[in-house]
Amino acid sequence: MAVRLGFIGVGGIASRHLQAAKARDDVQIIGHADVDPARARAAAESYGGTAYATASELYEEAQPDAVVICTPPYAHGDIETEACERGIHFFVEKPVAVNLDTAAAVLSAVQASGVFTQVGYMYRLSPPLQRVRELLAGRAVAMVQAHYYMPGLPEPVWWPKMALGGGQLVEQATHMLDLGRFLAGHVETVVGRTARVRDWTPPPGHTPEPGLLRYAQGFEIPDTTALILSYESGALGTLSCSLVPQAAWDVGFKVVADGLLVTIDGPNARWAGDVQGEATADERWVHAVLDEFLDAVQGTGECTVPYVEGVRSLAVSIAGYTSVERGGVPVALAELLPAGL
Ligand SMILES: NC(=O)c1ccc[n+]([C@@H]2O[C@H](COP(=O)([O-])OP(=O)(O)OC[C@H]3O[C@@H](n4cnc5c(N)ncnc54)[C@H](O)[C@@H]3O)[C@@H](O)[C@H]2O)c1
Repeated sequence: MAVRLGFIGVGGIASRHLQAAKARDDVQIIGHADVDPARARAAAESYGGTAYATASELYEEAQPDAVVICTPPYAHGDIETEACERGIHFFVEKPVAVNLDTAAAVLSAVQASGVFTQVGYMYRLSPPLQRVRELLAGRAVAMVQAHYYMPGLPEPVWWPKMALGGGQLVEQATHMLDLGRFLAGHVETVVGRTARVRDWTPPPGHTPEPGLLRYAQGFEIPDTTALILSYESGALGTLSCSLVPQAAWDVGFKVVADGLLVTIDGPNARWAGDVQGEATADERWVHAVLDEFLDAVQGTGECTVPYVEGVRSLAVSIAGYTSVERGGVPVALAELLPAGL
């Protein structure tokens, strides 16, 4: 039986998942909900299914088995909770929310319902990075040094608004914070500093260029951030991120472990020490996280990035900004996370 799949929030990233779902012959795309009716209609015309104005209408009228939720960071909570109440499995893009109260409420609903969930932390499913995790197992990890440098501001209008996008740590560098947890385990404390190093106000007569933006009205978020992380294992970590315009994307890691130095560049990795090698991901790596979810819904696999992982990774970002608010003191994850996490 084909999985009856709906989409909620069909803006930028949804097209990646729509194309991947369309390519599977065990999936039937049955509907698209977006508060922007033109987007819902365009998705329905391109991928099949019916356009809806709200997730509730999609749930009620199309009766999906599962949904892919690609709404902006601020638009989470009720969509997921209602899916749980109706027994609908969901894949949700990172970050799972902009605050931990919302994420904790959804987690309770997930746990009460037993639906399958998966969060779009696609780096975890890259075969080279899975190989790195195997190589690190059983070794003492000393340092997890991550960076996320993006040469400008993404176009969605919510991105430079702290209350809507959550800031670069929550919205985007979360990929690297999640990968740090995947490779080195739970984080205990976070120390953070942020800066705004350039003037983002558009100069008179400025016309936005296509792609990443150099200027935005009402830019509210830090453009440069540094964190120091202490892992429960005893490892230390750092994260540097910036969206100050420059030449190139640069996303990756160094991991120093007993007998091994690992360099991660996006989904690819190389390692040297008592074992030596390198691995490059093929172009399908980015789809593995959704494929795993759809396989689980089909009953032929399991979700390895369930909702609770999204809550834990969100907490690392929130701890970073909380530390900044408190003047740079360490913030313990145990203070922020729901009991038992
Ligand atoms: N994993 C990745 O590599 C990756 C890449 C890009 C974006 N993302 C994540 O995907 C999410 C969406 O990003 P985007 O760039 O596609 O944003 P976007 O603004 O382009 O698209 C979001 C869509 O959701 C719709 N929407 C807003 N509120 C809604 C609601 N309540 N119900 C239904 N639809 C609603 C908007 O109208 C819009 O069409 C973000 O959390 C972002 O971090 C992940």
